[in-house]
Amino acid sequence: MALHLGSIAPDFEQDSTEGRIRFHQWIGDSWAILFSHPKDFTPVCTTELGRAANLKDEFDKRHVKMLAVSVDPVTEHKKWIGDIEETQRATMNFPILGDSDRKVAKLYDMIHEEANDTLTVRSVFIIDPNKKIRATITYPASTGRNFGELLRVIDSLQLTDNHKVATPADWKDGDECVIAPSIQDPKELAERFPKGFRALKPYLRLTPQPNK
Ligand code: BEZ
Repeated sequence: MALHLGSIAPDFEQDSTEGRIRFHQWIGDSWAILFSHPKDFTPVCTTELGRAANLKDEFDKRHVKMLAVSVDPVTEHKKWIGDIEETQRATMNFPILGDSDRKVAKLYDMIHEEANDTLTVRSVFIIDPNKKIRATITYPASTGRNFGELLRVIDSLQLTDNHKVATPADWKDGDECVIAPSIQDPKELAERFPKGFRALKPYLRLTPQPNK
């Protein structure tokens, strides 16, 4: 079945560089980000894992656990980690799933046969504490992901879960937000947005970020 935004992220059990992982239990009350790498000992993946490890404090601040997956065995991942740490000035600080049986890759539809029939594309799943898939991003193997962008998406999700706003193009934490069009009652507007708002159009109203 297709994995859609709002679907429950499929649960699984698989070995990782930090031991056996039961996915839902491992997520616990946190958010999670699950991202796939086409293959071990490949250049783009090496830079991505180093970048992710160097940003772990930022993911921790947002209560997001990181989990990578690659279709090679854990024994290979452990050898590869030496190269990642050496070349990316990083210390690997989150698990990489071994997925040589492609259990996770298949469950999450990470193998796109028209692109490559054995390796995964670069998939990202952002999952909330209720285990719901909240965002997905898919890049080809040739394009390394921007981990700052992933943090930005998480900031937007966590903000809009708690306030009746949406985030406009290129928004980043601290910028003005868009007021949800469903809010029309002047009393509610005043209560929810005490800092005020500016209406460029009746449907396009900008307000300072409510939690800042
Ligand atoms: C890479 O990570 O560099 C890579 C992996 C698979 C195909 C192309 C590039």
